[in-house]
Amino acid sequence: MRRALTSAAGITSKATESVPASYFQNSRLMGKVQAHSIPLSTRMKTFRIQIDGQAVDAEADSETSLFTAMTRAGIAWPVSCRNGTCRTCIARLLKGKVRYEIPWPGLSAEEKQEGYCLPCVARPLADVVIVPA
Ligand code: FES
Repeated sequence: MRRALTSAAGITSKATESVPASYFQNSRLMGKVQAHSIPLSTRMKTFRIQIDGQAVDAEADSETSLFTAMTRAGIAWPVSCRNGTCRTCIARLLKGKVRYEIPWPGLSAEEKQEGYCLPCVARPLADVVIVPA
């Protein structure tokens, strides 16, 4: 069947064998593939968000940003761009771990290592405790 189709299309078997696998990768889907490359065991788990110094809690699954979860819980948090660039929402992560869909421009690698995070785009990987930065 394959031979008949490729022959009808004028494609030689040598030509089909030389197409690199990367030809079939869809670059538009790469971000989504990365987003779902987190371990299955952490996907859609529910995590607790605590704001240090306040008696408030929020819950977020691994696909919900900290800011969205806090808003749903009625917690007021400064926000502006909601896309990880303006730093209005910047917080210090005292406990826990977060992930980002892409390396957002609003935080340097050093700031991430020092525990800063952007709640508008950060998604929890564990229970977290944050404070305004
Ligand atoms: S609101 Fe702009 S970086 Fe979070």
